[in-house]
Amino acid sequence: MTEDLNAVIRSKFGPAAADYASSEVHAKGESLARIVELVAPQKTWTALDVATGAGHTAAIFAPHVASIIASDITDEMLKEAAKLAASRGLANMSTAPASAGALPFPDESFDLVCCRLAAHHFPSLENFVTEVHRVLKKGGRFALVDNVAPDQERLPGATGDDIDDAISAYNAFEKLRDPSHGFAPPPEYWLELLRNAGLAIVAEEQIEKELAFNPWVARMRCTPEVVAELKDILSGGNAALRTFLKPRVDAQGALHFTLQELLLVADKKD
Ligand SMILES: C[S@@+](CC[C@H](N)C(=O)[O-])C[C@H]1O[C@@H](n2cnc3c(N)ncnc32)[C@H](O)[C@@H]1O
Repeated sequence: MTEDLNAVIRSKFGPAAADYASSEVHAKGESLARIVELVAPQKTWTALDVATGAGHTAAIFAPHVASIIASDITDEMLKEAAKLAASRGLANMSTAPASAGALPFPDESFDLVCCRLAAHHFPSLENFVTEVHRVLKKGGRFALVDNVAPDQERLPGATGDDIDDAISAYNAFEKLRDPSHGFAPPPEYWLELLRNAGLAIVAEEQIEKELAFNPWVARMRCTPEVVAELKDILSGGNAALRTFLKPRVDAQGALHFTLQELLLVADKKD
């Protein structure tokens, strides 16, 4: 099952690797600089970036740590990450193949594990967090950035059932665009998962990011039929989901919508 999902992921991300290298959201998104501020990395640290994609997160941390491994299950992405490291002269950034649910590193290897805009692809968030906890040194730091589903704060006045429906509708919207999308939970789910795994939350923030619809569908090579369905969801469909996604057409006629990124920093208890 996991192998099937990994094959879907590689088939979607392999051909898209170069697009992710230049994607504005990934290369320049607000969460990139902010997560470094929240983590406050140290020059002595060894670090691991899980699901590095084209390496943007590993590259932003590299100048602040002793070494960082940019890891991913998609070979083409690792090649992009290596190119980025070479182009920026980051001699302390290396690449390694690694699956988030079975990290090929010994216990207590890293001072920092980071993972940005990727966990919603993983077949099991529980396995991932267990692995993060295992490879972190005691007192080590975990930094997560990922898109999250709607919650009461984003949908004030909505009932519990409305929110559950909106969570399902949001994940279905993402999965329609990208069949390798797994599950993006609401923020509270992540907080509980980390606490239960023995990680103490030290920072929590959300960033609202507006995405241009056309490059978003182009990155995943969506068919015209899927593009039409996604547009229908943004103009009709689940009302709570529309409130959450805030679709907007700009003066040039281009469609945009909004996603929520959760930034979490948590320390492994001694
Ligand atoms: C959107 S990209 C990552 C973006 C990147 N972290 C950044 O900050 O720009 C998602 C990446 O997750 C990787 N991925 C998906 N599932 C994975 C898994 N189970 N283990 C490791 N990598 C995975 C994909 O190969 C892809 O490169």
